[in-house]
Amino acid sequence: MAKMTPDSLRIGIDIGGTAIKYGVVDTATGTLSRPIAQQRTPQPANPAAIAEAVRAVVADVQSWETAPSQFAAVGVAFPAIIRQGIACSAANISDEWIGQKVEILLEEALQRPVRVINDADAAGLAETTRGAGKGHKGVVLILTLGTGIGSALMIDGKLVPNLELGHLEVGGLKAETTTSAVVRENEGLSWIEYSSRLQRYLSRVEFLFSPDLIIIGGGISVRYEEFLPQILLATPIRPAQLHNSAGVIGAAQIVG
Ligand code: BGC
Repeated sequence: MAKMTPDSLRIGIDIGGTAIKYGVVDTATGTLSRPIAQQRTPQPANPAAIAEAVRAVVADVQSWETAPSQFAAVGVAFPAIIRQGIACSAANISDEWIGQKVEILLEEALQRPVRVINDADAAGLAETTRGAGKGHKGVVLILTLGTGIGSALMIDGKLVPNLELGHLEVGGLKAETTTSAVVRENEGLSWIEYSSRLQRYLSRVEFLFSPDLIIIGGGISVRYEEFLPQILLATPIRPAQLHNSAGVIGAAQIVG
């Protein structure tokens, strides 16, 4: 017998430099049907390997009780500048992605419609509609601290896409090479050492953008008590609420 599932269910996939996270989201409510699943990002993270991993992920989801219709569009959050479905950068994935028609490539792999958005933009959309920035007017800046540093700028609930503040140079070095969550782990930084790097970066960003609110996301945001109390800014700063599910939820929302 055919499964009865709401029309508002969509698959969201968040492709990161380290892990591919995925889930089924009820886009009417922004809630996950069950906790997100994840797999390691294949290395090298080139188009053929990622397309195959995405195909396997979607095949897995279609076996779940809460699977959406097999014809429903899939939303994908991707760790690169995305313009008209094309990747225009590749910082923590293979350079082979630059110039690739990501949407078309994944549509061919999945044989169903796909929409792709920058991963931090997906997280920003989710946090401002369903999470820590819900209902917040004005300029909201979401920074995701993960393998790299992602950024999303929302103005009165509207996204300014493809902001790349992880590549902002602070002290002559790209911020994400000194201040991402993965750099903290790789360099074995104490929370105090990490907080002082983050302070320097956030002060620069605050000066350049004068946001009304800063939201700190990425998996590290669950441990916000270790570092956010050390950060002194004039701008209110909050941890994300959706943590590492934000990319999956935001990706599903763009096809909801
Ligand atoms: C990329 C961004 C991405 C961020 C987080 C950066 O290296 O340039 O596009 O949003 O990492 O994955």
